[in-house]
Amino acid sequence: MKEKIKVTVNGELRSEEVTPNQTLLNFLREDLDLTGAKNGCNEGECGACTVFLEGKVVNACLVLAIEADGKEVETIEGLASGTELHELQQAFIDYAALQCGYCTPGMIMSAKALLNRNPNPTREEVKEAIAGNLCRCTGYEKIIEAIIAVAEKNS
Ligand code: FES
Ligand code: FES
Repeated sequence: MKEKIKVTVNGELRSEEVTPNQTLLNFLREDLDLTGAKNGCNEGECGACTVFLEGKVVNACLVLAIEADGKEVETIEGLASGTELHELQQAFIDYAALQCGYCTPGMIMSAKALLNRNPNPTREEVKEAIAGNLCRCTGYEKIIEAIIAVAEKNS
C-alpha cells in the first residue's frame, strides 16, 4: 500500500507515492531519477548516499522516504547553477580529487555541510567531516586539498 508524500527536493515541491519501507535513497534514485546519490552499501557504512535533509547531512539509505514528508531535501544535483558547477565540484576536478567518482557526490555533500558550519576548517576538521565517506581510489589527500582550497579561497 502506497502513501503520498510531499517533499521539496532541490527547491522543487514533489508530490509522490511511496511504499512504507522505501528508503529516501531509493525514492531519489528510482522515482525522481536523481542518481547522484549512490548506493554503495545500503547500510549506513560508506557515505555514498549522503544528502541533506532539512539542511543536515544524512545517509539517505538509512532514512525512509516517508520521513522526508513535508521536509526539504538537497542532493548533489541541486548544487550547480545551470551549467556552472558549485565551487566544491570545480575544486574536485581541479585537484584531481576523484577517480571512479562513486564516492564524489556524497563526499562533496559532506564537505559542503562542513563549510556551511565552519568556513575555515583545519585539515583535521576536514578529515573528521569526511570520515564517514569511504573512497577506494584516491587516498583522500587530493580530496582534503580540494576542500581546503575552497575554504581558503573564501576566507
Ligand atoms: S549507501 Fe548509504 S551509507 Fe552506503
Ligand atoms: S573516487 Fe572512486 S571511490 Fe572515491
